[in-house]
Amino acid sequence: MKIITKVDELKNAVKAYRHEGKTIGLVPTMGALHGGHKSLVDRARRENDVVVVSVFLNPTQFNNKEDLRTYPRTAEADAALLEGCGVDIAFMPTVADVYPEPDNRVFHLGPVAEVMEGAMRPGHFNGVCQIVSKLFAMVEPDRAYFGEKDFQQIAVIRAMVEQLGLKLQIVPCPVVREDDGLAKSSRNVRLTPEVRKVAPNIYRVLRESVDYSKTHTVAETHDWVVEQINAYPLMEVEYFSICDGRTLQPVDQWTDTPYVVGCITVYCGDVREIDNIAYRK
Ligand code: PAF
Repeated sequence: MKIITKVDELKNAVKAYRHEGKTIGLVPTMGALHGGHKSLVDRARRENDVVVVSVFLNPTQFNNKEDLRTYPRTAEADAALLEGCGVDIAFMPTVADVYPEPDNRVFHLGPVAEVMEGAMRPGHFNGVCQIVSKLFAMVEPDRAYFGEKDFQQIAVIRAMVEQLGLKLQIVPCPVVREDDGLAKSSRNVRLTPEVRKVAPNIYRVLRESVDYSKTHTVAETHDWVVEQINAYPLMEVEYFSICDGRTLQPVDQWTDTPYVVGCITVYCGDVREIDNIAYRK
């Protein structure tokens, strides 16, 4: 595995692979790698000749300075994990390498980027689009892999890809969970033991709500989920949206669209956890 830190070196390395006619899969990450990332890398490994993984804690997508400050940084362990997964290139640049000048681009991606995370974290998706578009331009991958835990992020990146007229395939990958159901996340290490015990109830309630939804309205299901989760100590739902899985706009009736998803964000102590579940697909 080559560890590359400079943009020009990355571009030259992928250019050489492309001249050999090789397909390239990209897995963008912010490091603090876990089993969820590994599943993206393993899938990219199966589907491409060359796998590039970027490990870059992108400051422009953090609207909360404290979140950026406390985000786990585990560069050495990340490199070891990627080596073990048979990655060809780990791209581990500094902020100055990626942003030699401030990126002032503003993306207008419409309603898909304005709800949920877009509403709660102003500027977050703009920062995601800045870094992901830069990575796409550097690597020009055939496929790029993203986890469905960040369900809205995938919809936003698809909208950006369409707007920029890019040819690559966006590959969504299923959420990977701990044995007790908690979605794997780099932020999980920040949960106190007390909070870690109750956090799996997010997914337990979401799963049970699928049954509940069969005999209740969208509004009733929404309120039931919020009440159940808020009943636990140290947990507070920030938002729960039952929405169209493509447009991410809230639905009123289960029959409004064939693909209905519930997207939730819960404060577990001071850690913000995100998860989702499909109601109709
Ligand atoms: O999902 C993430 O880890 C980040 O938002 C991404 C896509 C790597 C961009 O920094």
